[in-house]
Amino acid sequence: MKLGHWSLSQPLGNGYGRVAAVKRGRGVILASLITIDDLSNEDILAILDDAELLLPAAKGEVYLPLLQGKLLGNLFFEPSTRTRMSFEAAMKRLGGDVINLGDVSSSSVVKGETLYDTIRMVDGYVDIIAMRHPRQGAAQYASDSAEVPILNGGDGAGHHPTQTLLDLFTIRQAHGTIEGLNVALVGDLRFGRTVHSLSHALVRFGCSLTLISPDSLRMPSEIIDDLQALGATITQSENLKAAVPDADVIYMTRIQKERFPDEDEYQRVAGIFKLSAADLAPSKGGMIVMHPLPRVDEVAPDVDTTVHARYFEQAFNGVVTRMALICRLLGVAVPQNAGTNGGES
Ligand code: NCD
Repeated sequence: MKLGHWSLSQPLGNGYGRVAAVKRGRGVILASLITIDDLSNEDILAILDDAELLLPAAKGEVYLPLLQGKLLGNLFFEPSTRTRMSFEAAMKRLGGDVINLGDVSSSSVVKGETLYDTIRMVDGYVDIIAMRHPRQGAAQYASDSAEVPILNGGDGAGHHPTQTLLDLFTIRQAHGTIEGLNVALVGDLRFGRTVHSLSHALVRFGCSLTLISPDSLRMPSEIIDDLQALGATITQSENLKAAVPDADVIYMTRIQKERFPDEDEYQRVAGIFKLSAADLAPSKGGMIVMHPLPRVDEVAPDVDTTVHARYFEQAFNGVVTRMALICRLLGVAVPQNAGTNGGES
């Protein structure tokens, strides 16, 4: 039986891209963020450092209008709560503004407008675009078609690099480093774009990965090959409980129901991993449980009150890391005193 989820049949366009990866929109050299490999390790660390400086502004403790006069276009062709809202919060906390595509069903997409035409048009309205699309590769396509930077907020089962930045920020906050940790990635590693992007970054920082999924939802072999080519230590398993004692981070994910071609196939794996507070008893004291959210039933509510839970902080960190990222792509320097007298209170 086919799932009743909404799927987008929007044509991409005529296949002609106008602009290469490095852009020169509005006089500044700009690039898009399509995969986490668009950023070097040094770039990532610089963004995390800027994000830390911006914490008081993200919390509204200081007003720092670094992005005054700048406009972000939120183009979400797939449902989103955190990613879309945190992009909006990031812009507005820094004095910038946002326009939204809004509900796809009330946009010209339903009239058959191609992604190419939508992007070419919004490109003229804004300084930067955050985009989510159900088709893998759509963000790269958009970037090839636009002059302003495109921030990939998720392309189908492909990549989700801005999520990776907030994930890394959260890990560094808890452990003081993102290097050399043992990280268990759990759940739907086949369709889950957050873990596709995060695994690349973690391996580049020398982390060891335990990939825990049912056999049918294993990390795609091309990704495993890439990670191994980077020298990664990878263990694949179906046993979540066995991974708890050695883990520094347990990163839970939702089974991506909307990406299954078939309801029966989904039902065979639904609810397969459930983490409860009792399961965490053998863990290291500093171990953190993360989840990109939304959760279904894979993390029990009793985990929320343990010292390990970090998913709500993680969601907040989406604001501060997206602030830092937008500043960087728009060529706006984050002042060292951003958290004190850098802003007006
Ligand atoms: C994730 C996504 O959209 O890939 N959500 C998010 O951005 N925080 C994870 C998910 O939907 O399961």
